[in-house]
Amino acid sequence: MSAFEVIIYEKRGGAAYITLNRPKALNAYNVRMRDELYEALGAIKDDPDVRVVILKGAGDKAFCAGADLTEFLTAPPPVFARQARFARDVWGLFLSIEQPVIAALHGYVLGSGIEMALCGDIRLASDDARFGLPETGLGIIPAAGGSQTLPRTIGAAAALDMLLTGRWLTAKEALKLKLINRVVARPDLLPEAEKLAQKIESMNPMIMRYVKQAVRRGLDLPLAEGLALESRLAKSLTSATGESG
Ligand code: COA
Repeated sequence: MSAFEVIIYEKRGGAAYITLNRPKALNAYNVRMRDELYEALGAIKDDPDVRVVILKGAGDKAFCAGADLTEFLTAPPPVFARQARFARDVWGLFLSIEQPVIAALHGYVLGSGIEMALCGDIRLASDDARFGLPETGLGIIPAAGGSQTLPRTIGAAAALDMLLTGRWLTAKEALKLKLINRVVARPDLLPEAEKLAQKIESMNPMIMRYVKQAVRRGLDLPLAEGLALESRLAKSLTSATGESG
């Protein structure tokens, strides 16, 4: 069903599945993957039949081992890289998806792997997952939103601990820091993600989108504006569905 090379995109019922599919390279994020993700996410965003998204990695060893290091050596001049980035803001697109996104994480979850997971809404991990941000050790800083999304998720001190020292976390540690929602045994990872997806699919899709929007957008607003946003969303939901709450 998938016409892509480095991701697999499938729809089953109301769930869209994106599988990072370069298992031999530990699903490292390359330019091709960026382009394919951009296309798949664009399709999801415009598809009213998609009620929930599951993001996962192929193979036994990794969800994603970060940016493809081989491309660092052949990177285009900065001006082209920047133009390409503006033309394809895959992270902005990811964060703008209205449907709930569940990330199912196993093995290595490094660099842009963590950043991709942070674009999702609920993160499940298997007990073999290891989380790290090796960027600073490579002489770069995260550029897929990690310097912003990580501290908003686990707080500045814990984020800086990871970013400044390159310290890796076990799944247990990641759970304690609330980087992930739940840890399960490896064989249970996909079934658990699917159970969660089915629960979300069984609900009113508009309510799922609105509540995601209220939380996600609200986090970037002062409380009074967040409350006004919630009120607007609740009102527009009431007029759309005729329900009151
Ligand atoms: N980019 C490109 N290729 C990668 C990669 C990456 N980020 N991470 C792993 N690979 C490739 C390896 O080169 C290797 O390819 P090969 O079989 O053709 O030699 C294959 O994936 C398996 O990796 P390997 O290093 O043999 O596995 P390992 O279990 O011994 O080690 C890691 C796993 C994740 C510790 C190690 O691969 C690693 O440190 N990767 C780089 C992580 C990183 O710095 N990412 C960038 C973040 S910005």
